[in-house]
Amino acid sequence: MSGITVIGSNMVDLTTYVKRMPVAGETLEAPAFEMGFGGKGANQAVAAARLGSAVNFITVVGNDQFGQQQLANYQAQHISMAGIEVGEQASGVAPIFVDPTSDNRILIIKGANLALTPAMLDQKIDLIKNSQLIVLQQEIALETNYHAIELAQHFQVPVLLNPAPANADLDMTYVSKVAFFAPNETELATLTGLPTSNLAEIKIAAKQLVHLGVANLIVTLGSKGVLWVTCDQEQLIPSQKVKAVDTTGAGDAFIGSFAHYYIQSYDVAQALRQANQYAALTVMHKGTQKSYPNAKTLEKYVH
Ligand code: RIB
Ligand code: NA
Repeated sequence: MSGITVIGSNMVDLTTYVKRMPVAGETLEAPAFEMGFGGKGANQAVAAARLGSAVNFITVVGNDQFGQQQLANYQAQHISMAGIEVGEQASGVAPIFVDPTSDNRILIIKGANLALTPAMLDQKIDLIKNSQLIVLQQEIALETNYHAIELAQHFQVPVLLNPAPANADLDMTYVSKVAFFAPNETELATLTGLPTSNLAEIKIAAKQLVHLGVANLIVTLGSKGVLWVTCDQEQLIPSQKVKAVDTTGAGDAFIGSFAHYYIQSYDVAQALRQANQYAALTVMHKGTQKSYPNAKTLEKYVH
């Protein structure tokens, strides 16, 4: 089956909405708690699938109730089950704290995601080989991502790498091989060692990565939109202003929807505009995957 193959993590998000974080030794009441499906890889896979793309997800779920719930979730989202394995460890979980300004603080416990090894990719080679686009993030072992990039290069499948969460150990020789590299400002600073506190600085850091060989550098700037830099042009594509309630997973909604829109048109600028719009809608609602619109809901907002 052709379509998008996401290789990466799945987590159960344990989201507490706080008025403020407790200090050490303090017990504090929080107004609300919600549980939902998350993990950067899963979120990206779900966004693309909800928009109607054929999606393979190569991931390892835990050998517990959460793992079984994850399987049911992917089935309900029409994600192909061919790439999904049940591991021997507990499920990955993410305790998340969202404050009244809609900012989040996230801890991740990777659990079964650590069992997604380079060897497992070899077992799923048919999925990789027949993909139109491979999407990677960084909540699994870097070695697995490196192997994915090598396999993709061998089969001439383009790769979109979202280096989240930031990891200073990322080997830039692999980064130079991807078609799309999509860090946020913080990840860009970590990887280049350069400041990224304003647009002028961000452009300088972005160009450094383009000189390394990245074909399309896409810096996500949250509510400010995205900066797209190639060796011969740069464009700032602004985002629409919305009232933010919970920004958790908005970056993943952007990546997953970009993957979907890109393989529809192969028009990068247009896909970036559409993905900006998709991600903006998700921050208006609580939760991660549960705030991702499907194609039908989207019609109400986008004209
Ligand atoms: O990017 C948001 C995601 O980060 C959450 O769903 C959480 O699971 C962590 O992986
Ligand atoms: Na949301």
